[in-house]
Amino acid sequence: MTRRAVVKGIGHYLPERIVPNTEFEKTLDTSNDWIVSRSGIERRHFAAEGETTSQLATHAAKAALDMAGMDASDIDAIIVATSTPDNTFPSVATMVQSALGNTTGFAFDVQAVCAGFVYAMSNANAMILAGQADRVLVIGAETFSRIMDWTDRSTCVLFGDGAGALILEAETGIGTSDDRGILATDLNSDGRYKDLLYVDGGVATQNTGVLRMEGKEVFRHAVEKLAQTADTALEKVGLSAEDVDWVVPHQANIRIIQSTARKLGVGMDRVVVTVQDHGNTSAASIPLALSVGVSEGKIKPGDLVVTEAIGGGLAWGAVVLRW
Ligand code: UT7
Repeated sequence: MTRRAVVKGIGHYLPERIVPNTEFEKTLDTSNDWIVSRSGIERRHFAAEGETTSQLATHAAKAALDMAGMDASDIDAIIVATSTPDNTFPSVATMVQSALGNTTGFAFDVQAVCAGFVYAMSNANAMILAGQADRVLVIGAETFSRIMDWTDRSTCVLFGDGAGALILEAETGIGTSDDRGILATDLNSDGRYKDLLYVDGGVATQNTGVLRMEGKEVFRHAVEKLAQTADTALEKVGLSAEDVDWVVPHQANIRIIQSTARKLGVGMDRVVVTVQDHGNTSAASIPLALSVGVSEGKIKPGDLVVTEAIGGGLAWGAVVLRW
Protein backbone atom coordinates (compact mmCIF):
# COMPACT_ATOMS: atom_id res chain seq x y z
CA MET A 1 0.00 0.00 0.00
CA THR A 2 1.31 3.45 -0.95
CA ARG A 3 0.13 6.91 -0.01
CA ARG A 4 -0.78 8.94 -3.11
CA ALA A 5 -1.68 12.60 -3.68
CA VAL A 6 -4.84 12.49 -5.81
CA VAL A 7 -6.51 15.45 -7.55
CA LYS A 8 -9.97 16.08 -6.08
CA GLY A 9 -10.90 19.40 -7.65
CA ILE A 10 -9.60 22.03 -10.05
CA GLY A 11 -10.59 25.56 -10.99
CA HIS A 12 -9.28 28.72 -12.56
CA TYR A 13 -9.88 32.43 -12.79
CA LEU A 14 -9.02 34.93 -15.51
CA PRO A 15 -9.38 38.69 -15.11
CA GLU A 16 -12.20 40.20 -17.14
CA ARG A 17 -10.13 42.39 -19.43
CA ILE A 18 -9.05 40.61 -22.62
CA VAL A 19 -6.29 42.30 -24.61
CA PRO A 20 -5.93 41.28 -28.29
CA ASN A 21 -2.57 41.58 -30.09
CA THR A 22 -3.87 44.54 -32.09
CA GLU A 23 -3.80 46.64 -28.88
CA PHE A 24 0.02 46.57 -29.01
CA GLU A 25 0.06 47.77 -32.63
CA LYS A 26 -1.13 51.16 -31.34
CA THR A 27 1.95 51.83 -29.19
CA LEU A 28 4.73 49.53 -30.45
CA ASP A 29 6.46 48.62 -33.71
CA THR A 30 4.82 45.19 -33.74
CA SER A 31 1.99 43.35 -35.48
CA ASN A 32 -0.62 40.70 -34.78
CA ASP A 33 1.08 38.59 -37.49
CA TRP A 34 4.49 38.72 -35.78
CA ILE A 35 3.10 37.84 -32.35
CA VAL A 36 0.97 34.96 -33.66
CA SER A 37 3.65 33.51 -35.92
CA ARG A 38 6.53 33.75 -33.40
CA SER A 39 4.61 32.79 -30.22
CA GLY A 40 1.10 31.50 -31.04
CA ILE A 41 -0.40 34.12 -28.70
CA GLU A 42 -3.61 35.84 -29.91
CA ARG A 43 -4.86 37.45 -26.71
CA ARG A 44 -4.23 37.58 -22.97
CA HIS A 45 -6.06 38.74 -19.84
CA PHE A 46 -4.83 41.67 -17.75
CA ALA A 47 -5.86 42.32 -14.16
CA ALA A 48 -7.89 45.46 -13.47
CA GLU A 49 -6.32 48.34 -11.60
CA GLY A 50 -5.99 47.28 -7.97
CA GLU A 51 -6.68 43.61 -8.73
CA THR A 52 -3.99 41.51 -7.05
CA THR A 53 -2.43 38.08 -7.41
CA SER A 54 -4.00 36.95 -4.11
CA GLN A 55 -7.45 37.94 -5.38
CA LEU A 56 -7.02 35.93 -8.59
CA ALA A 57 -5.69 33.02 -6.51
CA THR A 58 -8.66 33.16 -4.15
CA HIS A 59 -11.18 33.02 -7.04
CA ALA A 60 -9.40 29.98 -8.48
CA ALA A 61 -9.20 28.33 -5.04
CA LYS A 62 -12.95 28.74 -4.49
CA ALA A 63 -13.67 27.13 -7.87
CA ALA A 64 -11.42 24.16 -6.99
CA LEU A 65 -13.05 23.78 -3.55
CA ASP A 66 -16.49 23.84 -5.22
CA MET A 67 -15.53 21.07 -7.63
CA ALA A 68 -14.07 18.98 -4.80
CA GLY A 69 -17.18 19.57 -2.68
CA MET A 70 -14.89 20.76 0.12
CA ASP A 71 -14.94 23.62 2.54
CA ALA A 72 -11.88 25.82 3.21
CA SER A 73 -11.71 24.31 6.71
CA ASP A 74 -11.07 20.87 5.13
CA ILE A 75 -7.73 22.11 3.75
CA ASP A 76 -4.63 21.69 5.89
CA ALA A 77 -2.01 23.29 3.63
CA ILE A 78 -2.03 26.02 0.98
CA ILE A 79 0.89 26.39 -1.42
CA VAL A 80 0.92 29.27 -3.91
CA ALA A 81 3.39 29.33 -6.78
CA THR A 82 3.98 32.94 -7.79
CA SER A 83 6.67 35.43 -8.76
CA THR A 84 4.30 38.39 -8.55
CA PRO A 85 3.18 38.47 -4.89
CA ASP A 86 0.98 41.37 -3.76
CA ASN A 87 3.73 42.40 -1.33
CA THR A 88 7.27 41.24 -0.64
CA PHE A 89 5.73 39.52 2.38
CA PRO A 90 3.57 38.04 3.85
CA SER A 91 3.08 35.20 1.40
CA VAL A 92 0.22 35.21 -1.07
CA ALA A 93 -0.70 31.83 0.42
CA THR A 94 -1.46 33.39 3.83
CA MET A 95 -3.51 36.10 2.08
CA VAL A 96 -5.54 33.37 0.35
CA GLN A 97 -5.87 31.54 3.67
CA SER A 98 -7.31 34.70 5.22
CA ALA A 99 -9.65 35.37 2.26
CA LEU A 100 -10.97 31.80 2.49
CA GLY A 101 -11.49 32.14 6.24
CA ASN A 102 -9.19 29.22 7.01
CA THR A 103 -7.43 29.65 10.38
CA THR A 104 -5.70 26.29 10.78
CA GLY A 105 -2.96 24.41 8.99
CA PHE A 106 -0.14 26.19 7.19
CA ALA A 107 0.41 28.26 4.05
CA PHE A 108 3.48 29.33 2.09
CA ASP A 109 4.65 30.48 -1.36
CA VAL A 110 6.98 28.77 -3.80
CA GLN A 111 9.03 30.93 -6.15
CA ALA A 112 10.35 29.09 -9.19
CA VAL A 113 8.96 31.48 -11.82
CA CYS A 114 7.36 29.61 -14.76
CA ALA A 115 8.32 26.25 -13.23
CA GLY A 116 6.61 27.29 -9.98
CA PHE A 117 3.53 25.10 -10.30
CA VAL A 118 5.58 21.98 -10.99
CA TYR A 119 7.72 22.82 -7.92
CA ALA A 120 4.59 23.46 -5.81
CA MET A 121 3.02 20.14 -6.88
CA SER A 122 6.23 18.34 -6.03
CA ASN A 123 6.31 19.99 -2.57
CA ALA A 124 2.66 19.15 -1.95
CA ASN A 125 3.24 15.56 -3.01
CA ALA A 126 6.25 15.19 -0.70
CA MET A 127 4.27 16.59 2.23
CA ILE A 128 1.36 14.25 1.58
CA LEU A 129 3.68 11.24 1.23
CA ALA A 130 5.44 12.23 4.49
CA GLY A 131 2.11 12.46 6.31
CA GLN A 132 2.54 16.18 7.02
CA ALA A 133 -0.73 17.04 5.27
CA ASP A 134 -3.79 15.20 3.96
CA ARG A 135 -5.42 17.87 1.82
CA VAL A 136 -3.32 20.48 0.03
CA LEU A 137 -4.61 23.39 -2.04
CA VAL A 138 -2.00 24.09 -4.73
CA ILE A 139 -2.34 27.35 -6.63
CA GLY A 140 -0.45 29.05 -9.46
CA ALA A 141 -1.31 32.76 -9.64
CA GLU A 142 0.35 35.69 -11.40
CA THR A 143 -0.09 39.31 -12.40
CA PHE A 144 2.84 39.59 -14.83
CA SER A 145 1.25 42.73 -16.32
CA ARG A 146 2.65 44.50 -13.23
CA ILE A 147 6.27 43.73 -14.18
CA MET A 148 6.24 44.50 -17.90
CA ASP A 149 8.38 47.11 -19.63
CA TRP A 150 5.68 48.43 -21.99
CA THR A 151 8.35 49.82 -24.32
CA ASP A 152 10.04 46.42 -24.81
CA ARG A 153 8.18 44.71 -27.67
CA SER A 154 10.24 41.53 -27.25
CA THR A 155 8.67 40.78 -23.84
CA CYS A 156 5.50 42.80 -23.12
CA VAL A 157 3.43 41.10 -25.85
CA LEU A 158 4.09 37.65 -24.41
CA PHE A 159 2.72 37.61 -20.86
CA GLY A 160 -0.71 37.58 -19.20
CA ASP A 161 -2.45 37.36 -15.81
CA GLY A 162 -4.50 34.55 -14.29
CA ALA A 163 -4.72 31.81 -11.68
CA GLY A 164 -5.40 28.09 -11.48
CA ALA A 165 -5.84 25.90 -8.41
CA LEU A 166 -6.15 22.24 -7.60
CA ILE A 167 -6.73 20.18 -4.50
CA LEU A 168 -4.64 17.13 -3.72
CA GLU A 169 -5.90 14.61 -1.17
CA ALA A 170 -4.10 11.64 0.39
CA GLU A 171 -5.41 8.26 -0.77
CA THR A 172 -4.05 4.75 -0.53
CA GLY A 173 -2.89 3.18 -3.79
CA ILE A 174 -1.41 -0.22 -4.57
CA GLY A 175 1.97 1.26 -5.48
CA THR A 176 1.93 0.79 -9.25
CA SER A 177 1.63 3.26 -12.12
CA ASP A 178 -2.06 2.31 -12.36
CA ASP A 179 -2.69 4.29 -9.15
CA ARG A 180 -4.46 7.60 -9.39
CA GLY A 181 -2.47 10.61 -8.16
CA ILE A 182 1.06 11.94 -8.55
CA LEU A 183 3.32 9.14 -9.72
CA ALA A 184 6.63 10.94 -10.24
CA THR A 185 8.25 14.37 -10.22
CA ASP A 186 11.53 15.67 -11.62
CA LEU A 187 12.97 19.04 -10.54
CA ASN A 188 16.05 20.82 -11.88
CA SER A 189 17.70 24.22 -11.78
CA ASP A 190 20.96 25.71 -13.01
CA GLY A 191 21.79 29.13 -11.58
CA ARG A 192 24.51 29.70 -14.18
CA TYR A 193 21.64 30.87 -16.40
CA LYS A 194 20.12 33.32 -13.88
CA ASP A 195 20.75 36.30 -16.20
CA LEU A 196 18.72 34.93 -19.13
CA LEU A 197 15.38 35.77 -17.51
CA TYR A 198 15.03 38.01 -14.47
CA VAL A 199 13.30 41.06 -12.99
CA ASP A 200 15.69 44.01 -12.64
CA GLY A 201 14.28 45.19 -9.30
CA GLY A 202 13.27 44.02 -5.87
CA VAL A 203 14.34 44.48 -2.28
CA ALA A 204 17.91 45.34 -3.30
CA THR A 205 16.80 48.25 -5.52
CA GLN A 206 13.75 49.25 -3.47
CA ASN A 207 11.55 49.14 -6.56
CA THR A 208 9.65 46.29 -8.18
CA GLY A 209 11.53 46.32 -11.50
CA VAL A 210 10.54 44.90 -14.88
CA LEU A 211 11.08 41.60 -16.65
CA ARG A 212 14.18 41.18 -18.82
CA MET A 213 14.63 38.16 -21.08
CA GLU A 214 17.10 36.79 -23.61
CA GLY A 215 14.23 35.17 -25.52
CA LYS A 216 16.29 33.25 -28.07
CA GLU A 217 18.53 31.69 -25.39
CA VAL A 218 15.60 30.75 -23.14
CA PHE A 219 13.92 29.23 -26.20
CA ARG A 220 17.03 27.12 -26.92
CA HIS A 221 17.18 25.80 -23.33
CA ALA A 222 13.43 25.12 -23.28
CA VAL A 223 13.54 22.99 -26.40
CA GLU A 224 16.48 21.00 -25.02
CA LYS A 225 15.36 20.58 -21.39
CA LEU A 226 11.56 20.11 -21.42
CA ALA A 227 11.35 16.81 -23.27
CA GLN A 228 14.30 15.57 -21.19
CA THR A 229 12.64 16.30 -17.82
CA ALA A 230 9.31 14.81 -18.97
CA ASP A 231 11.09 11.65 -20.15
CA THR A 232 13.02 11.41 -16.87
CA ALA A 233 9.83 11.71 -14.80
CA LEU A 234 8.10 9.05 -16.92
CA GLU A 235 11.10 6.71 -16.62
CA LYS A 236 10.94 6.98 -12.80
CA VAL A 237 7.66 5.03 -12.91
CA GLY A 238 8.53 2.78 -15.83
CA LEU A 239 6.30 4.64 -18.28
CA SER A 240 7.00 6.15 -21.69
CA ALA A 241 5.43 8.58 -24.14
CA GLU A 242 3.06 5.93 -25.56
CA ASP A 243 1.39 5.67 -22.14
CA VAL A 244 0.62 9.40 -22.00
CA ASP A 245 -2.96 10.55 -22.59
CA TRP A 246 -2.32 14.29 -22.20
CA VAL A 247 0.73 16.51 -22.12
CA VAL A 248 -0.09 19.76 -20.34
CA PRO A 249 2.93 21.98 -20.95
CA HIS A 250 3.84 25.41 -19.65
CA GLN A 251 2.24 27.78 -22.14
CA ALA A 252 5.00 30.17 -23.23
CA ASN A 253 5.26 29.67 -26.97
CA ILE A 254 3.43 27.34 -29.38
CA ARG A 255 6.73 26.58 -31.14
CA ILE A 256 8.28 25.34 -27.87
CA ILE A 257 5.14 23.28 -27.15
CA GLN A 258 5.22 21.70 -30.64
CA SER A 259 8.92 20.96 -30.60
CA THR A 260 8.74 19.39 -27.11
CA ALA A 261 5.80 17.21 -28.17
CA ARG A 262 7.75 16.11 -31.25
CA LYS A 263 10.81 15.24 -29.14
CA LEU A 264 8.65 13.32 -26.68
CA GLY A 265 6.94 11.47 -29.52
CA VAL A 266 3.45 12.69 -28.57
CA GLY A 267 1.07 14.01 -31.27
CA MET A 268 -0.36 17.52 -30.87
CA ASP A 269 -3.81 15.89 -30.59
CA ARG A 270 -2.66 14.79 -27.09
CA VAL A 271 -1.40 18.22 -25.99
CA VAL A 272 -3.55 20.80 -24.17
CA VAL A 273 -2.88 24.23 -25.70
CA THR A 274 -4.16 27.49 -24.21
CA VAL A 275 -1.30 29.84 -25.12
CA GLN A 276 -3.43 31.48 -27.83
CA ASP A 277 -5.95 32.69 -25.22
CA HIS A 278 -3.84 33.26 -22.10
CA GLY A 279 -0.33 34.18 -23.28
CA ASN A 280 2.40 33.20 -20.84
CA THR A 281 0.95 33.35 -17.32
CA SER A 282 4.12 31.92 -15.72
CA ALA A 283 3.28 29.73 -12.67
CA ALA A 284 -0.44 29.97 -13.48
CA SER A 285 -0.16 28.53 -16.97
CA ILE A 286 -0.19 24.80 -16.11
CA PRO A 287 -3.11 24.85 -13.64
CA LEU A 288 -5.01 27.10 -16.07
CA ALA A 289 -4.39 24.64 -18.91
CA LEU A 290 -5.28 21.65 -16.70
CA SER A 291 -8.52 23.34 -15.67
CA VAL A 292 -9.43 24.22 -19.27
CA GLY A 293 -8.52 20.66 -20.34
CA VAL A 294 -10.88 19.23 -17.71
CA SER A 295 -13.71 21.67 -18.43
CA GLU A 296 -13.48 20.90 -22.18
CA GLY A 297 -13.89 17.18 -21.35
CA LYS A 298 -10.38 16.28 -22.58
CA ILE A 299 -8.75 15.19 -19.30
CA LYS A 300 -10.79 12.45 -17.61
CA PRO A 301 -10.34 10.33 -14.47
CA GLY A 302 -7.75 7.63 -15.08
CA ASP A 303 -5.88 9.57 -17.80
CA LEU A 304 -2.08 9.72 -17.58
CA VAL A 305 -1.08 13.40 -17.60
CA VAL A 306 2.42 14.88 -17.91
CA THR A 307 3.10 18.52 -17.10
CA GLU A 308 6.43 20.23 -17.82
CA ALA A 309 7.73 23.78 -17.43
CA ILE A 310 10.85 25.95 -17.57
CA GLY A 311 11.49 29.50 -16.45
CA GLY A 312 13.78 31.99 -14.74
CA GLY A 313 16.67 30.52 -12.77
CA LEU A 314 16.77 28.60 -14.98
CA ALA A 315 14.43 26.23 -13.15
CA TRP A 316 12.57 23.39 -14.86
CA GLY A 317 10.78 20.16 -14.13
CA ALA A 318 7.92 17.75 -14.78
CA VAL A 319 5.13 15.97 -12.92
CA VAL A 320 3.54 12.70 -14.02
CA LEU A 321 0.11 12.03 -12.55
CA ARG A 322 -2.87 9.83 -13.16
CA TRP A 323 -5.98 12.04 -13.09
O1 UT7 B 1 8.06 31.31 -19.60
C1 UT7 B 1 9.43 31.42 -19.44
C2 UT7 B 1 10.09 30.92 -20.59
N1 UT7 B 1 10.06 31.88 -21.67
C3 UT7 B 1 10.03 31.44 -22.88
O2 UT7 B 1 9.92 30.25 -23.07
C4 UT7 B 1 10.21 32.40 -24.01
C5 UT7 B 1 11.20 31.82 -24.97
N2 UT7 B 1 11.45 32.62 -26.14
C6 UT7 B 1 10.53 32.83 -27.10
O3 UT7 B 1 9.40 32.44 -26.98
C7 UT7 B 1 10.97 33.52 -28.36
O4 UT7 B 1 12.38 33.62 -28.37
C8 UT7 B 1 10.35 34.93 -28.56
C9 UT7 B 1 8.87 34.79 -28.89
C10 UT7 B 1 10.57 35.75 -27.30
C11 UT7 B 1 11.02 35.62 -29.74
O5 UT7 B 1 10.94 34.85 -30.91
P1 UT7 B 1 12.24 34.63 -31.83
O6 UT7 B 1 11.81 33.85 -32.99
O7 UT7 B 1 13.29 34.02 -30.94
O8 UT7 B 1 12.57 36.09 -32.28
P2 UT7 B 1 13.89 36.93 -32.02
O9 UT7 B 1 14.02 37.29 -30.59
O10 UT7 B 1 15.04 36.24 -32.67
O11 UT7 B 1 13.57 38.22 -32.84
C12 UT7 B 1 13.46 38.19 -34.26
C13 UT7 B 1 13.21 39.61 -34.74
C14 UT7 B 1 14.19 40.63 -34.15
O12 UT7 B 1 14.46 41.56 -35.15
P3 UT7 B 1 15.85 41.51 -35.97
O13 UT7 B 1 16.92 41.64 -34.92
O14 UT7 B 1 15.84 40.17 -36.64
O15 UT7 B 1 15.73 42.67 -36.89
C15 UT7 B 1 13.40 41.28 -33.06
O16 UT7 B 1 13.83 42.60 -32.81
O17 UT7 B 1 11.90 40.04 -34.30
C16 UT7 B 1 12.01 41.29 -33.63
N3 UT7 B 1 10.97 41.37 -32.62
C17 UT7 B 1 9.72 41.78 -32.90
N4 UT7 B 1 9.16 42.22 -34.03
C18 UT7 B 1 7.86 42.57 -34.00
C19 UT7 B 1 11.03 41.02 -31.31
N5 UT7 B 1 9.85 41.23 -30.73
C20 UT7 B 1 9.00 41.71 -31.69
C21 UT7 B 1 7.65 42.09 -31.71
N6 UT7 B 1 7.14 42.50 -32.88
N7 UT7 B 1 6.87 42.03 -30.61
